[in-house]
Amino acid sequence: MPYRRTARLARWQKWLLCLAGGGLWLSGCGWLLLHYYGRVQGAFGPETNPAEPWLMRLHGLALIPALLGIGGMFVVHIPKGWTHARQRVAGVALCTILGILILSGYLLYYLGDDGARSWASVTHWMVGLGLPAIFLWHWLNGIAARKR
Ligand code: HEM
Ligand code: HEM
Repeated sequence: MPYRRTARLARWQKWLLCLAGGGLWLSGCGWLLLHYYGRVQGAFGPETNPAEPWLMRLHGLALIPALLGIGGMFVVHIPKGWTHARQRVAGVALCTILGILILSGYLLYYLGDDGARSWASVTHWMVGLGLPAIFLWHWLNGIAARKR
């Protein structure tokens, strides 16, 4: 079991993180497009697009494997990866971004439809849009860290 001795991830873990993370990102972006540009004309004026709640159901579905995948990082990846000094910053950055997303996502779910919710929303999707870039940076930096 080579993966138990290094911070390298098994192939299935990488697939899990990429597919679940991709699902989160695409469903979030789809919701944003519909919410800001896809209103439909109802009998009494513009209305919320009926596909919006479906995209959030998809978002919630992708969240389950994503959180399982992230949880798995605490078992071997983070403790072993911590020894790579250069990768520590990229690791903490990724964990911080994910922490903000999880916390603001929780608030989005439970806050009523008021000012605080719209703050949570903007924070959540702005950070969310940047997630693939931070993830990719962490990955590429990790490959560089392995070579040294
Ligand atoms: C670990 C990562 C993430 C978690 C835990 C998370 C969690 C959540 C939760 C719980 C909600 C509320 C769902 C609802 O009201 O039905 C939500 C909404 C949303 N998420 Fe995420 N999400 C994550 C990543 C992302 C990413 C990468 C994006 C990319 C843009 C994103 C964009 C959105 C958007 C646009 C909404 C709707 C905001 C609103 O209702 O005002 N999320 N998310
Ligand atoms: C403090 C936290 C973290 C540290 C110190 C850390 C450290 C590392 C290190 C050292 C590598 C290079 C591994 C190698 O090739 O030997 C790496 C790669 C990687 N990390 Fe992290 N990491 C952290 C958090 C995370 C989190 C939260 C995720 C995912 C949500 C993640 C996903 C990845 C992925 C996908 C790779 C590429 C794996 C591979 O090439 O096998 N890391 N990380």
